[in-house]
Amino acid sequence: MPTDPTSAHATRPFVPATRVRGFGTTVFAEFTALAIQHNAVNLGQGFPNFAAPDFIKEAAQQAIHGDLNQYARSMGHPRLVNALAQVYGPLFGRDLDPTQEIVVSVGATEGIFATIQALVEPGDEVILIEPFYDGYPASVIMAGGTPVYVPLRPAPGTAASWVLDMDELAAAFSPRTRLLIVNTPQNPLGKVFSRRELEQIAALVQAHDVYVLSDEVYEWMVYPDSAAQPAIEHIRIATLPGMWERTITLGSAGKTFSVTGWKIGWAIGSVELARAVFMAHQWIPFAVATPLQEAVGAALEQAAARDYFNWLSAMYQAKRDKLFDVLAEVGLTPVRPDGSYFILVDTGHLDVPVPPGVRRDVAVARWFASHVGVAAIPPSPFYSPEHQYLTDNLARFCFCKTDDLLDEAARRLRAKLG
Ligand SMILES: Cc1ncc(COP(=O)(O)O)c(C=O)c1O
Repeated sequence: MPTDPTSAHATRPFVPATRVRGFGTTVFAEFTALAIQHNAVNLGQGFPNFAAPDFIKEAAQQAIHGDLNQYARSMGHPRLVNALAQVYGPLFGRDLDPTQEIVVSVGATEGIFATIQALVEPGDEVILIEPFYDGYPASVIMAGGTPVYVPLRPAPGTAASWVLDMDELAAAFSPRTRLLIVNTPQNPLGKVFSRRELEQIAALVQAHDVYVLSDEVYEWMVYPDSAAQPAIEHIRIATLPGMWERTITLGSAGKTFSVTGWKIGWAIGSVELARAVFMAHQWIPFAVATPLQEAVGAALEQAAARDYFNWLSAMYQAKRDKLFDVLAEVGLTPVRPDGSYFILVDTGHLDVPVPPGVRRDVAVARWFASHVGVAAIPPSPFYSPEHQYLTDNLARFCFCKTDDLLDEAARRLRAKLG
């Protein structure tokens, strides 16, 4: 805004509030635009490019047709919270109270924001495991909290070989620690934390009397491997002894039903924790889109009878294998994910010019879009500045795409790198 010093109402240059001042735009904005510019196959942003199941779309159409147009119950539309209690009760090994232990959120994203707003005081510390989903630090900072970072230590092989050094984790706790965020199955690595790892995390959490936000949005995308030791299975940290009272677990209809644009998520926890999350939620969106909640509720009611969750993980496992094989074939040494729909690759051998002031992983991801015609995401935004050097030789591809698109990506990768 121009400033006229002679005016009685001279304005100061606009400065955003401190809590947002340090934020750049997300990496996804740049790389989606780049994919469009170069007509690249977009294996960057993790959204399914295929149709959602008919049964959820039909339920949404019926809900709109039935005039479910007004504000929903703030904590969650009854049909959805009842369905969530039915699905998750057995998974948590308890009778869930649909009216007091579940909060429906605007995607898991709002669940993250509301949970952190509900638990974290200004000055509190929140432990984040790197690589982290890039929404966590932003939510911590907006609550006035301080993120404390502990990186998984990379090792060749599968995602399971990237380990959390428990001594390093123990050293990250301080008297100011309030919350630890676990993401399993994990984005962008695809690690599924083992029972042993979660037990060790739980022991530290209890010893320091803190809480856990368990982001389990990829809970149904787990790829069991009969040869793997320990066995690959999705463990909910809230089910470990003493953890129900300390854990808020988040889920997402966007991931589960391939409807990321619907932005329906949920937070599940004890009456006390869910109430705290609700206190924040009621002043963030107040309520979430009613007809879409109705549709997700109807879909969850049908999921077991349709064997939908097994179908989903088998469908994604085949896509993982398809992309993994071609990435291995063209020499990108992919890290095999045990869950989620992402694969990290090693780009260290590629001779890509890196302009001054640009991180190598960013330059390589731009090169993938412009020279190979396949867009990827640079993983440095998933690390704190002090640990970003760990991502110089990494790129993230996603496989939540139609087989046609994955085949076209394979063709382009083979043509340029094969
Ligand atoms: C680990 C993780 N958590 C949360 C989200 C956000 O979920 P939603 O789309 O339901 O807001 C994502 C989306 O990419 C994610 O990868």
